[in-house]
Amino acid sequence: MNLTIFGVGYVGLVTGVCLAELGNDVVCVDTDARKIATLQRGDVPIHEPGLKELMAGNCHAGRLAFSTDLAKGVAHGEVLFIAVGTPSTDDGGTDMAQVFGVARAIAAHMDAFKVIVNKSTVPVGSGEAVHEAIAEVLAQRLWHAAPAPGFAVVSNPEFLKEGSAIDDFMRPDRIIVGVGDSPEERRAGALMRELYRPFSHGHERLMCMDRRSAEFTKYAANAMLAVRISFMNEMANLADRLGVDIEPVRVGMGADPRIGDSFLYPGIGYGGSCFPKDVAALRHMGLGMGLPLRVLQAAAQVNDGQRRLLVDKLAQRLGNDFAGRRFALWGLAFKPNTDDMREAPSRVLIRELLARGAALQVFDPVAMLEARRCLAEDMRDHPEWLDRIHYAESPLGAAHGADALLIATEWQEFCSPNFEALRMALKRPLVVDGRNLYEPRAMRTLGFDYLAVGRNT
Ligand code: UGA
Repeated sequence: MNLTIFGVGYVGLVTGVCLAELGNDVVCVDTDARKIATLQRGDVPIHEPGLKELMAGNCHAGRLAFSTDLAKGVAHGEVLFIAVGTPSTDDGGTDMAQVFGVARAIAAHMDAFKVIVNKSTVPVGSGEAVHEAIAEVLAQRLWHAAPAPGFAVVSNPEFLKEGSAIDDFMRPDRIIVGVGDSPEERRAGALMRELYRPFSHGHERLMCMDRRSAEFTKYAANAMLAVRISFMNEMANLADRLGVDIEPVRVGMGADPRIGDSFLYPGIGYGGSCFPKDVAALRHMGLGMGLPLRVLQAAAQVNDGQRRLLVDKLAQRLGNDFAGRRFALWGLAFKPNTDDMREAPSRVLIRELLARGAALQVFDPVAMLEARRCLAEDMRDHPEWLDRIHYAESPLGAAHGADALLIATEWQEFCSPNFEALRMALKRPLVVDGRNLYEPRAMRTLGFDYLAVGRNT
């Protein structure tokens, strides 16, 4: 099938590459000429395991191309995916300008039947709004003898996780397609079923529903996961006070199939480009309907507090004033296997530590460059604080001479360090672990003062 993806951000790029891998002929279009030039050179602007290799293979096979030419993109695809950004507005709402921009451009150039697929996470009702925007532009164009071409707008939200996006795309738990039942929409539904047929051999993965339900499903799923994390974080904080170890509690809870054992890990709060934004957007939708979503409000509040947890734990040991202290920080990205720093808990932590006078020696396996950029942004009001951040070249290098080691991201390479060398490198053997990487008892035996999340037994 001929496909066009508008927007080569995270979702758009992974979608384009994976659909090309299935044998489709894919063109990815973006207005950012620098990004397109980077991709045309074979470089990938984001860190996602396996993506670069898969992209290279498909470009080489002639199934995948990158372009800034919107008109060409519209002409190429039978199915056109909108995967552009939907940033938050100041009040937690969703800025739809890019989505409508692409929709109108599609309408301005299309001259045959098109299926327009919304992949971006968009508020409930956006499918109708996109349909109207396209119809409006089509109505203004001159069609001489022929009638304006038909089209259908489909909702097809994405459920990729950064760091395992290729696998998530290629082996989906479910594919949600939201489409109405007008003749054009039925035609679009059939095309979507055909497009996704390869994922369903032996087990139907495709779930068809109406468009609004599909849009809502994406938000409800992310919100549920965010609530689950905040719930576990509160349980862990209580466990700390009760002298209970949250680990066996987590395992015991997860054994109940109604609860399940994934996504139950306490830590220093959820981050990334999705959960905080989607929780805010859903709350905004609720308020718009006169329905404050109190559970979500609480989840967001707990998350804000949790990002400061390591500072509180440090203060328990060292007091509130960190002037003259030097701390090591392992992990900057919001989670492992990505260089994404959006809403990373480390950013809150770093700002708080710098504000209290500390110097930092930080290390992340892939997010160092991105961290420099984001921290410069965060510290715009105090650029002089940036001088107190040293970017180390290795985990042990970061630990050297530090008053404590803080862990913010559970990168695999932090799981089994040389503990002896680590203890020797630290000035004081204090480890404050926001991701529960180690066994508290073993750490104590090794001579560390070890504080984790919910493991204060
Ligand atoms: C999330 C969803 O998991 C995807 O299904 C969805 O497609 C995506 O958002 C999106 O909306 O595009 P992602 O943001 O990549 O994916 O990352 P997750 O793996 O879900 O982790 C989110 C945050 O929760 C991370 O900060 C992680 O550290 C934290 N987390 C996760 C925990 O604190 N505890 C856990 O048990 C699991």
